Amino acid sequence: MDAATKVTPDTLRAMKAARQRIAALTAYDYPMARLLDEAGIPILLVGDSLGMVVLGYPDTTHVTLAEMEHHIRAAARAKPRALLIGDLPYRSYETPEQAVASAQRLVAAGAEAVKAEGGRDILPQIRAIQAAGIPFMGHLGMLPQHVLEEGGKYRIKGKDDAGRAKLFDDAAALAEANVFAVVLELVTPPVAKEITARFPFATIGIGSGPDCDGQILVTPDLLGAFPWFTPKFVQPKLRVGEDVRRVVREWAASL
Ligand code: KIV
Repeated sequence: MDAATKVTPDTLRAMKAARQRIAALTAYDYPMARLLDEAGIPILLVGDSLGMVVLGYPDTTHVTLAEMEHHIRAAARAKPRALLIGDLPYRSYETPEQAVASAQRLVAAGAEAVKAEGGRDILPQIRAIQAAGIPFMGHLGMLPQHVLEEGGKYRIKGKDDAGRAKLFDDAAALAEANVFAVVLELVTPPVAKEITARFPFATIGIGSGPDCDGQILVTPDLLGAFPWFTPKFVQPKLRVGEDVRRVVREWAASL
């Protein structure tokens, strides 16, 4: 990947074809988008995970379209070379018409592509978004916006025959829609590996083993900046939360 050229969906398709690993991270504001971009990360996702790690909600179902627009505007002010993707929040893409209207609002805020959770069940919405000229990234496996329907548990997907068949069928639907990339969240590693080998879109794994085309993390998890909860599959590389408590105490004591 050329370090100066703007990243587009085609760049990511080319990276998959060249077997180049794709790093992706979440960014919810200007300084983090700028730092991650300066570090050369090709995908920045303004994810609705901001509901928990920025806004203090218990899950992503509380995030509104207006909140997503606000954070996308902030991240977009960094004018990243990375592709800036915005999450369509809960219940903002129930029909093709609503999906296009919501996606257009995220694009007006600065997103260059949008992501939504689901496969065959939202195929008409995905086709409508792409027909409106907006690139689309899929999201399969554990779908955080469905956590309440799943009894509040974030469960691994693809453990039984029915689960595997559903994942392959949803992946086939996303391939039919010609999406450029798909997040695979908490998918069993053998299923994630097979989807990666079988389908043309770039797979971006999170808690789905090492064999996806790329990996994404919620940036505060990587930095230890949301120390009250760390997913099992993340080893934080910094302890920002602990450092903040320590330096703030030291500063206050020094007055
Ligand atoms: O909202 C988000 O940050 C996401 C990532 C975890 C993939 O969807």
